[in-house]
Amino acid sequence: MIKRKNVLKIAIDSPAAAGAGTLAKAISKHYNLFYLDTGKIYRFIAYLRIKHPKKFNYKFIKSKIKLLKIKDLSDNNLLSDEVGTEASIISKIKSIRKMVHSFQINFAYNPPKKYKGSCLDGRDITYNIIPDADFKFYITANIKTRALRRFKELKGLKKKITYQEVLKSIKKRDKSDFNRKISPLKKTKDSLLINTTNLNKRACFLKIKKIIDRKTNN
Ligand code: C5P
Repeated sequence: MIKRKNVLKIAIDSPAAAGAGTLAKAISKHYNLFYLDTGKIYRFIAYLRIKHPKKFNYKFIKSKIKLLKIKDLSDNNLLSDEVGTEASIISKIKSIRKMVHSFQINFAYNPPKKYKGSCLDGRDITYNIIPDADFKFYITANIKTRALRRFKELKGLKKKITYQEVLKSIKKRDKSDFNRKISPLKKTKDSLLINTTNLNKRACFLKIKKIIDRKTNN
């Protein structure tokens, strides 16, 4: 694999709806980093399973991943709660993780030339995908805050869902993501904890920016 030199790499892990995506996007924009929401890749595969249950096998997924473009990940169909739940199921399959792994590593270490580096968020980024990242963050918030944020997001997308349903599915996903045997979500010792429960987007961004600037300006 080609590795570009002097690439600034930021790794973020977080449970569902903790605000990591919003923050990662803001950080990436500010520092001109290539941003990859790795959950979207699992969602993309989950959506394939929902859409083509009969064709869904290793060969089929591999052919789709081979052709996968970043713009395919902005499909609004990937944002539903149903796809999120399915993603947490298929993400436990070892062969699928292996396939997705190389796609992510390539983007982390060899981002398009116009970017200064990369910023990836997911569940196993800090210890599996970019273990040598320049900055590692574990972003979290309490479960009710996360459910409320996701509920508002889904309502904004005109999805038919109640707050209680969102809360239930986030609890289910947490249980699966934290406890699975393969690549479980965890806060590594070398990750900095950012709790976004009582912070707005701007405050979270400034907190992270301060940490990055302190190290990169020295
Ligand atoms: O981040 P998002 O909620 O979109 O992720 C959907 C699901 O994909 C997660 O619940 C998790 O099970 C899985 N995932 C993963 N590893 C990643 C990113 C997401 O297992 N790096």
